[in-house]
Amino acid sequence: MSGIEPYFKINGGRRLEGEVTIGGAKNAAVAVIPASILAGAPCRLENLPKIEDVYTLKDILSSMGADVDFSPDRGMNIDPREIDNFSVTFDMASSLRASYYFLGSLLGRYGHAEIALPGGCSIGSRPIDQHIKGMRALGADVVIERGIVKAKAKKLVGSEIYLDIVSVGATINIMLAACRAEGTTTINNAAKEPHVVETANFLNMMGASVKGAGTDVIRINGTNELHGCTYSIIPDQIEAGTFMIAAAATRGDVIIKNVIPTHLEAICAKLMECGVSVTQGDDGREFFIHIKSDSRPRAVNIKTLPYPGFPTDLQQPMMALLCTARGNSFIVENIFEERFNHVAELRRMGANITLNGRTAMVEGIDTLVGVPLRATDLRAGAALIIAALMAEGESTISNIRYVDRGYEYFEYKLRALGADIQRMG
Ligand code: UD1
Repeated sequence: MSGIEPYFKINGGRRLEGEVTIGGAKNAAVAVIPASILAGAPCRLENLPKIEDVYTLKDILSSMGADVDFSPDRGMNIDPREIDNFSVTFDMASSLRASYYFLGSLLGRYGHAEIALPGGCSIGSRPIDQHIKGMRALGADVVIERGIVKAKAKKLVGSEIYLDIVSVGATINIMLAACRAEGTTTINNAAKEPHVVETANFLNMMGASVKGAGTDVIRINGTNELHGCTYSIIPDQIEAGTFMIAAAATRGDVIIKNVIPTHLEAICAKLMECGVSVTQGDDGREFFIHIKSDSRPRAVNIKTLPYPGFPTDLQQPMMALLCTARGNSFIVENIFEERFNHVAELRRMGANITLNGRTAMVEGIDTLVGVPLRATDLRAGAALIIAALMAEGESTISNIRYVDRGYEYFEYKLRALGADIQRMG
């Protein structure tokens, strides 16, 4: 151990070429792992990404008393039968936002949960009022004391819930608790993201009755009859989108394998609007997307929206690409008001970006220059890596623990495509 915090060293200007295979979806994995305790019987999850968030959730489950092993083949066996601790402490909740899913799963299974207010990326205020509103509507008594959400219920009873804002986290959390409630719960104005559907599929495989996931009305008929199951996680749409953007940004030629094309429609459409060649294919085993580019992209405008709109998680990587587009791009961030932490870093590379509230105007320039950079959150880290891959000369990127939270073997996958990226420290 050198004692120096790890960082990436990147020599930019190399075209990405070749094939990359996408891993399991982070945002599905971090919901399905907490959901797995709902049956009170062993479950096996497959195709989990090897990312820090998954390791943290494994530690949280172990601290509760569950027997968990995460094997090198990406399978996790979870036996929740010995769980006797219903709390998630600040130490554990502070690094990942998805720790909030234990609120729904512990409450649903044991009628009791104490969860430190979640951490995760600093990209806005990120309240959890809609989660709490949902738990209360199901009959739980919820208080927040000294940064800990304490929820209790002798019995949960299904209810009609309208979300005031489309929230992925609140939709999933309410689904988890409602699975074990008595009677029917309806979530109106629900989020439609692929990981909402994925969690519903997992719950249904455990014997739950969740209908309508993927639309804005979800109905859950609660039951006590859940059982263990084996479930394989879908590919990560944001990892796929990140590689698509990185390929386009380096004027590359990359085949991105193991994707679900319908989950990528918004990013495919935007890249095509930029003039990038995007083709979909099926090699008989899995779907792939082929990205090819040989010139500066055209400027485009982007508005982030709940699924199926353009995902906020790809806003930052896309801004890196647009820094060298021909013309001016306008990017409106509608989901997280402070998701512009990467802008100051991109400017230090020469990018010409003007911020006005939730809107960034990016005036395309010929090329970025490599400088020392600092990742401020997960997707900002991905954006800076893309910018450094495009830039002239050497960049370093510190604070890469954020990147490790959500991207599996990122630098290995990039190196296999020809990038000059090293993990240092
Ligand atoms: C999830 C994803 C994250 C993605 C985001 C939007 C996970 C683990 N994370 O985050 O990668 O960027 O969806 O697609 O899946 N809000 C409230 N009150 C609430 C809950 C949310 O006001 O109780 C607001 C948020 O501040 C935000 C908006 O609703 O402005 C959407 O947030 P939400 O969909 O809940 O995002 P997360 O679940 O935190």
